[in-house]
Amino acid sequence: MTQLFRSGLLVGLCSVFGTHLAAAQAPEPFEPLPLWAYAWSTQPQPGDGPAAQPFPTLDIREGDDPDEVTMPRQVEGSDATYSRMEIRDAHNVIDWFPGDHPPMPEIMRRGPESLVPVRGWGCASCHLPNGKGRPENAPPAGQPVEYTIRQLQDMASGLRRGADPRKQNYPTMNLLAAAMSEEEMRESAEYFAAMPWTPWIEVIEADLIPEMHLEEGNMYITVGDEPTEPLDGRIVETPVDEFQANYLRNPRSSWIAYVPVGSLEKGEELVTTGGGKTIQCSICHGPDLMGLANMPGIAGRSPSYTMRQLHDMKVGTRNGLGVELMDAVLADLTVEDMTNIVAYLASLVPPMPAADSQ
Ligand code: HEC
Ligand code: HEC
Repeated sequence: MTQLFRSGLLVGLCSVFGTHLAAAQAPEPFEPLPLWAYAWSTQPQPGDGPAAQPFPTLDIREGDDPDEVTMPRQVEGSDATYSRMEIRDAHNVIDWFPGDHPPMPEIMRRGPESLVPVRGWGCASCHLPNGKGRPENAPPAGQPVEYTIRQLQDMASGLRRGADPRKQNYPTMNLLAAAMSEEEMRESAEYFAAMPWTPWIEVIEADLIPEMHLEEGNMYITVGDEPTEPLDGRIVETPVDEFQANYLRNPRSSWIAYVPVGSLEKGEELVTTGGGKTIQCSICHGPDLMGLANMPGIAGRSPSYTMRQLHDMKVGTRNGLGVELMDAVLADLTVEDMTNIVAYLASLVPPMPAADSQ
């Protein structure tokens, strides 16, 4: 019985996955893909597709030093102790700071119930227990419940996909959304909505930045100390402390985004006035751009994530009912305009909840 369920489930999953893999062929770009937002150094080629992400495991892997991966680790301000093996197990997500968020529903830790038999991914493994996410995924904290449910439905049906066919974690997200029940969608959306968005990205205008190592398809890692690498029109988002952010998955460890000199001023004009090229964002996203009714908040969030959204909606891999409202906003914007817009949006410091409740 269990075996039947398991194999039936796997066949079902493979077909969902297969559909997404097939559908994820490169779209017609309107300009070369803004590679920095997708963390690649080269343009996708015809026939490119993602390698499927392996299901999570708790084990010692080839090449591991057993002492290193089993050694107890701690982070400042937390009483918890976890080994690297536990930290990277995405089917039993660790929680350094349970006091930083409401009680986590089981799906955050273990993933959708229907995937528990195959050790699916807990949502918090990518989006973190505090819902702030990381540049390579998404920041769902503080978004309106109905907005998030709509996204999960759009990702489940394949209406919403990423424009870079090589990006591995997007088909994983589509697969997870397709495996969720309606109740799980609502429960997840309510959990994320219960956590107000707070700032954790420092935005710095720069011509030269420290030398970076690009982990292809993932993120930029700072390797140099002195500013020697030309930013060259990109936005480069990087952990302030790679060991804390990546190895320990410390959800309090913050981020830096280097943005082109002058981008904040140009972005501000486009966002606040439309600059003759677009529509003022506040009309729909709220006066503080933190969201309004069912409209998502766009201020103070990862500029790489935000860029992928603008680009994916423009080239048509991100679809869905809500996206039509963005068509007129995006029609005349170039990649450079969007870069300026997302730099400015990321630099906005959202109002802190304490000040709000006065
Ligand atoms: C393997 C990593 C991964 C896991 C695990 C994961 N996600 Fe995602 N999620 C992503 C990626 C990647 C995106 C899309 C990023 C992009 O658009 O570039 C995303 C996007 C989202 C969004 C859209 C946010 C927005 O503002 O529109 C929501 C909501 C979401 N995920 C919820 C969930 C839930 C609920 C779960 C658990 C069932 C989950 N995710 C598990 C990687 C993941
Ligand atoms: C006419 C209304 C409208 C205007 C004006 C508008 N938006 Fe949107 N925007 C939407 C809607 C609706 C969505 C949600 C789309 C969906 O449901 O998938 C959205 C989604 C987004 C998202 C994705 C958010 C996420 O978490 O994934 C970004 C980014 C965004 N808008 C940026 C902008 C910017 C920048 C401007 C101004 C230049 C702007 N929008 C102006 C209606 C609007």
